[in-house]
Amino acid sequence: MTISDQDSTQTLTALVTGATSGIGREVALQLAELGWRVIAVGRDREALTQLDEASALITSRAADLLADDLAALVPESVDALVHAAGISPSTRVEDTADEDWERVFALNVTAGASLARHALPALRRSRGTVVFVNSGAGTAARPRNAPYAASKHALRALANGLRAEEEASGVRVTTVYPGPTDTPMFGGDVDRSELIRPSSVARAVVMAITASEDVQLTDIHVRPRRELSW
Ligand SMILES: NC(=O)c1ccc[n+]([C@@H]2O[C@H](COP(=O)([O-])OP(=O)(O)OC[C@H]3O[C@@H](n4cnc5c(N)ncnc54)[C@H](OP(=O)(O)O)[C@@H]3O)[C@@H](O)[C@H]2O)c1
Repeated sequence: MTISDQDSTQTLTALVTGATSGIGREVALQLAELGWRVIAVGRDREALTQLDEASALITSRAADLLADDLAALVPESVDALVHAAGISPSTRVEDTADEDWERVFALNVTAGASLARHALPALRRSRGTVVFVNSGAGTAARPRNAPYAASKHALRALANGLRAEEEASGVRVTTVYPGPTDTPMFGGDVDRSELIRPSSVARAVVMAITASEDVQLTDIHVRPRRELSW
Protein backbone atom coordinates (compact mmCIF):
# COMPACT_ATOMS: atom_id res chain seq x y z
CA MET A 1 0.00 0.00 0.00
CA THR A 2 1.29 3.46 -0.76
CA ILE A 3 0.85 6.70 1.11
CA SER A 4 -1.41 7.92 -1.69
CA ASP A 5 -3.58 4.78 -1.46
CA GLN A 6 -3.64 4.89 2.30
CA ASP A 7 -7.01 4.80 4.03
CA SER A 8 -6.88 7.69 6.45
CA THR A 9 -8.18 5.45 9.24
CA GLN A 10 -5.42 2.88 8.75
CA THR A 11 -1.97 3.39 10.24
CA LEU A 12 0.81 1.63 8.39
CA THR A 13 3.56 0.00 10.42
CA ALA A 14 7.29 -0.22 9.76
CA LEU A 15 9.92 -2.21 11.63
CA VAL A 16 13.26 -0.38 11.39
CA THR A 17 16.60 -1.75 12.59
CA GLY A 18 19.59 0.51 13.14
CA ALA A 19 17.10 3.13 14.27
CA THR A 20 19.30 4.55 17.02
CA SER A 21 21.81 6.22 14.71
CA GLY A 22 22.61 7.52 11.26
CA ILE A 23 20.51 6.31 8.33
CA GLY A 24 18.09 4.10 10.27
CA ARG A 25 17.30 6.91 12.70
CA GLU A 26 16.42 9.23 9.82
CA VAL A 27 14.22 6.53 8.25
CA ALA A 28 12.31 6.14 11.54
CA LEU A 29 11.80 9.90 11.90
CA GLN A 30 10.77 10.41 8.26
CA LEU A 31 8.26 7.56 8.32
CA ALA A 32 6.75 8.85 11.57
CA GLU A 33 6.53 12.29 9.98
CA LEU A 34 4.48 10.69 7.18
CA GLY A 35 2.11 9.15 9.72
CA TRP A 36 3.57 5.65 9.91
CA ARG A 37 3.75 3.76 13.17
CA VAL A 38 7.41 2.80 13.61
CA ILE A 39 8.94 0.03 15.70
CA ALA A 40 12.48 1.37 16.16
CA VAL A 41 15.12 -1.20 17.07
CA GLY A 42 18.61 -0.75 18.53
CA ARG A 43 20.69 -1.21 21.68
CA ASP A 44 21.52 2.38 22.67
CA ARG A 45 19.01 3.13 25.46
CA GLU A 46 19.54 6.90 25.38
CA ALA A 47 18.97 7.06 21.63
CA LEU A 48 15.89 4.87 21.99
CA THR A 49 14.45 7.21 24.61
CA GLN A 50 15.08 10.17 22.31
CA LEU A 51 13.14 8.40 19.54
CA ASP A 52 10.20 7.72 21.86
CA GLU A 53 10.21 11.41 22.77
CA ALA A 54 10.52 12.54 19.14
CA SER A 55 7.17 11.12 18.02
CA ALA A 56 4.15 9.44 19.55
CA LEU A 57 4.14 7.17 16.49
CA ILE A 58 7.56 5.71 17.33
CA THR A 59 7.83 2.79 19.73
CA SER A 60 11.38 1.86 20.61
CA ARG A 61 12.48 -1.73 21.17
CA ALA A 62 15.82 -2.39 22.83
CA ALA A 63 17.37 -5.41 21.18
CA ASP A 64 20.75 -6.82 20.30
CA LEU A 65 20.25 -8.38 16.87
CA LEU A 66 23.12 -10.75 17.57
CA ALA A 67 21.65 -12.12 20.78
CA ASP A 68 17.94 -11.51 21.20
CA ASP A 69 14.83 -13.25 19.89
CA LEU A 70 14.22 -11.61 16.51
CA ALA A 71 10.76 -13.15 16.04
CA ALA A 72 9.62 -11.26 19.13
CA LEU A 73 10.42 -7.94 17.44
CA VAL A 74 7.95 -8.48 14.61
CA PRO A 75 4.45 -7.10 15.23
CA GLU A 76 1.26 -8.79 14.04
CA SER A 77 0.82 -6.25 11.26
CA VAL A 78 3.79 -5.00 9.21
CA ASP A 79 3.81 -2.95 6.02
CA ALA A 80 7.57 -2.34 5.75
CA LEU A 81 10.75 -3.85 7.11
CA VAL A 82 13.93 -1.79 6.90
CA HIS A 83 17.17 -3.50 7.85
CA ALA A 84 19.62 -0.63 8.35
CA ALA A 85 21.64 -2.04 11.26
CA GLY A 86 25.17 -2.83 10.24
CA ILE A 87 28.78 -2.94 11.32
CA SER A 88 31.77 -2.14 9.19
CA PRO A 89 35.02 -3.60 10.49
CA SER A 90 38.07 -2.18 8.78
CA THR A 91 40.44 -5.11 8.68
CA ARG A 92 42.61 -6.93 6.19
CA VAL A 93 41.78 -10.57 5.42
CA GLU A 94 45.06 -11.68 6.99
CA ASP A 95 44.05 -10.02 10.27
CA THR A 96 40.36 -11.01 10.41
CA ALA A 97 39.55 -13.87 12.78
CA ASP A 98 36.77 -16.36 12.06
CA GLU A 99 34.59 -14.89 14.81
CA ASP A 100 34.92 -11.43 13.27
CA TRP A 101 33.75 -12.81 9.91
CA GLU A 102 30.86 -14.48 11.70
CA ARG A 103 29.84 -11.30 13.54
CA VAL A 104 29.72 -9.11 10.44
CA PHE A 105 27.71 -11.69 8.50
CA ALA A 106 25.42 -12.35 11.48
CA LEU A 107 24.42 -8.70 11.79
CA ASN A 108 24.59 -7.46 8.21
CA VAL A 109 23.04 -10.52 6.55
CA THR A 110 21.59 -13.20 8.82
CA ALA A 111 19.68 -10.80 11.08
CA GLY A 112 18.08 -9.21 8.00
CA ALA A 113 17.17 -12.60 6.57
CA SER A 114 15.77 -13.77 9.89
CA LEU A 115 13.64 -10.66 10.39
CA ALA A 116 12.36 -10.95 6.82
CA ARG A 117 11.47 -14.60 7.41
CA HIS A 118 9.55 -13.82 10.59
CA ALA A 119 7.82 -10.83 8.98
CA LEU A 120 6.88 -12.56 5.71
CA PRO A 121 3.39 -13.75 6.73
CA ALA A 122 2.46 -10.18 7.73
CA LEU A 123 4.21 -8.65 4.72
CA ARG A 124 2.32 -10.98 2.40
CA ARG A 125 -0.98 -9.91 3.96
CA SER A 126 -0.09 -6.23 3.50
CA ARG A 127 1.75 -6.65 0.17
CA GLY A 128 4.50 -4.79 1.98
CA THR A 129 8.08 -3.80 1.25
CA VAL A 130 11.44 -4.99 2.55
CA VAL A 131 14.35 -2.57 2.26
CA PHE A 132 17.90 -3.75 2.86
CA VAL A 133 20.38 -0.91 3.39
CA ASN A 134 23.40 -2.11 1.48
CA SER A 135 26.49 -0.09 0.44
CA GLY A 136 28.73 0.71 -2.48
CA ALA A 137 30.64 -2.22 -0.97
CA GLY A 138 27.78 -4.44 -2.16
CA THR A 139 29.19 -4.32 -5.67
CA ALA A 140 32.92 -3.68 -5.15
CA ALA A 141 35.64 -4.37 -2.59
CA ARG A 142 38.63 -2.37 -1.41
CA PRO A 143 41.60 -3.17 0.80
CA ARG A 144 40.65 -3.38 4.47
CA ASN A 145 36.97 -3.93 3.79
CA ALA A 146 36.70 -7.50 2.47
CA PRO A 147 34.59 -8.79 5.42
CA TYR A 148 32.20 -5.85 5.11
CA ALA A 149 32.09 -6.01 1.30
CA ALA A 150 31.56 -9.77 1.36
CA SER A 151 28.63 -9.34 3.75
CA LYS A 152 27.11 -6.62 1.58
CA HIS A 153 27.54 -8.75 -1.57
CA ALA A 154 25.67 -11.48 0.33
CA LEU A 155 23.00 -8.99 1.38
CA ARG A 156 22.50 -8.07 -2.29
CA ALA A 157 22.05 -11.78 -3.12
CA LEU A 158 19.60 -12.14 -0.24
CA ALA A 159 17.52 -9.27 -1.64
CA ASN A 160 17.57 -10.63 -5.18
CA GLY A 161 16.66 -14.15 -4.08
CA LEU A 162 13.88 -13.00 -1.76
CA ARG A 163 12.43 -10.72 -4.46
CA ALA A 164 12.27 -13.62 -6.91
CA GLU A 165 10.71 -15.91 -4.32
CA GLU A 166 8.06 -13.38 -3.29
CA GLU A 167 7.06 -12.22 -6.76
CA ALA A 168 3.76 -14.09 -6.59
CA SER A 169 2.96 -12.87 -3.08
CA GLY A 170 3.39 -9.21 -3.99
CA VAL A 171 6.04 -8.49 -1.34
CA ARG A 172 8.48 -5.94 -2.77
CA VAL A 173 12.20 -6.06 -2.04
CA THR A 174 14.51 -3.08 -2.46
CA THR A 175 18.24 -2.68 -2.03
CA VAL A 176 19.49 0.83 -1.26
CA TYR A 177 23.22 1.32 -1.82
CA PRO A 178 24.45 4.45 -0.04
CA GLY A 179 27.81 5.95 -0.83
CA PRO A 180 29.91 7.59 1.92
CA THR A 181 27.42 9.02 4.39
CA ASP A 182 27.93 11.35 7.34
CA THR A 183 27.22 8.98 10.22
CA PRO A 184 29.38 7.58 13.03
CA MET A 185 30.13 4.57 10.82
CA PHE A 186 32.07 6.56 8.24
CA GLY A 187 35.63 7.17 9.38
CA GLY A 188 37.27 8.13 6.09
CA ASP A 189 39.63 11.10 6.02
CA VAL A 190 37.51 13.53 4.00
CA ASP A 191 35.83 16.90 4.33
CA ARG A 192 32.64 15.67 6.03
CA SER A 193 30.57 18.41 4.42
CA GLU A 194 31.03 16.49 1.14
CA LEU A 195 29.49 13.30 2.54
CA ILE A 196 25.91 12.28 1.83
CA ARG A 197 23.51 13.38 4.54
CA PRO A 198 21.83 10.41 6.29
CA SER A 199 18.48 12.10 5.73
CA SER A 200 19.11 11.92 1.96
CA VAL A 201 19.64 8.16 2.10
CA ALA A 202 16.53 7.87 4.27
CA ARG A 203 14.54 9.69 1.59
CA ALA A 204 15.52 6.97 -0.89
CA VAL A 205 14.41 4.29 1.56
CA VAL A 206 11.09 6.04 2.10
CA MET A 207 10.68 6.44 -1.67
CA ALA A 208 11.03 2.66 -2.06
CA ILE A 209 8.46 2.01 0.69
CA THR A 210 5.95 4.51 -0.65
CA ALA A 211 6.42 3.71 -4.36
CA SER A 212 3.29 3.37 -6.48
CA GLU A 213 1.42 0.13 -6.03
CA ASP A 214 2.21 -1.06 -9.58
CA VAL A 215 6.01 -1.00 -9.22
CA GLN A 216 8.90 -2.02 -7.04
CA LEU A 217 12.15 -0.09 -6.93
CA THR A 218 14.67 -2.90 -6.95
CA ASP A 219 18.05 -1.16 -6.61
CA ILE A 220 18.69 2.44 -5.64
CA HIS A 221 22.24 3.77 -5.69
CA VAL A 222 22.69 6.95 -3.66
CA ARG A 223 25.97 8.71 -4.49
CA PRO A 224 27.41 12.03 -3.32
CA ARG A 225 26.86 14.86 -5.78
CA ARG A 226 30.64 14.87 -6.32
CA GLU A 227 32.40 11.50 -6.06
CA LEU A 228 34.86 11.19 -3.18
CA SER A 229 38.07 9.23 -2.88
CA TRP A 230 39.47 8.52 0.55
N1 LIG B 1 27.83 5.62 6.77
C1 LIG B 1 28.21 5.21 5.58
O1 LIG B 1 29.12 5.78 4.94
C2 LIG B 1 27.51 4.02 4.92
C3 LIG B 1 27.77 3.81 3.56
C4 LIG B 1 27.15 2.74 2.93
C5 LIG B 1 26.30 1.92 3.65
N2 LIG B 1 26.06 2.13 4.97
C6 LIG B 1 25.14 1.21 5.65
O2 LIG B 1 24.09 1.93 6.22
C7 LIG B 1 23.56 1.21 7.33
C8 LIG B 1 23.41 2.18 8.49
O3 LIG B 1 24.72 2.61 8.86
P1 LIG B 1 24.99 4.07 9.46
O4 LIG B 1 25.99 4.70 8.59
O5 LIG B 1 23.71 4.72 9.76
O6 LIG B 1 25.77 3.61 10.77
P2 LIG B 1 25.64 3.95 12.32
O7 LIG B 1 25.25 5.38 12.50
O8 LIG B 1 26.89 3.45 12.91
O9 LIG B 1 24.40 3.03 12.77
C9 LIG B 1 24.55 1.64 12.87
C10 LIG B 1 23.28 1.11 13.51
O10 LIG B 1 23.41 -0.33 13.64
C11 LIG B 1 22.95 -0.69 14.92
N3 LIG B 1 23.58 -1.90 15.43
C12 LIG B 1 24.91 -2.23 15.40
N4 LIG B 1 25.11 -3.39 16.02
C13 LIG B 1 23.89 -3.83 16.43
C14 LIG B 1 23.43 -4.97 17.15
N5 LIG B 1 24.28 -5.94 17.57
N6 LIG B 1 22.12 -5.08 17.43
C15 LIG B 1 21.25 -4.11 17.04
N7 LIG B 1 21.62 -3.02 16.35
C16 LIG B 1 22.91 -2.88 16.07
C17 LIG B 1 23.33 0.49 15.81
O11 LIG B 1 22.49 0.53 16.95
P3 LIG B 1 22.95 0.30 18.47
O12 LIG B 1 24.39 0.64 18.59
O13 LIG B 1 22.01 1.16 19.26
O14 LIG B 1 22.68 -1.16 18.69
C18 LIG B 1 23.04 1.67 14.90
O15 LIG B 1 21.68 2.07 15.02
C19 LIG B 1 24.52 0.05 7.58
O16 LIG B 1 23.97 -1.13 7.09
C20 LIG B 1 25.75 0.43 6.79
O17 LIG B 1 26.47 -0.70 6.36
C21 LIG B 1 26.64 3.18 5.62
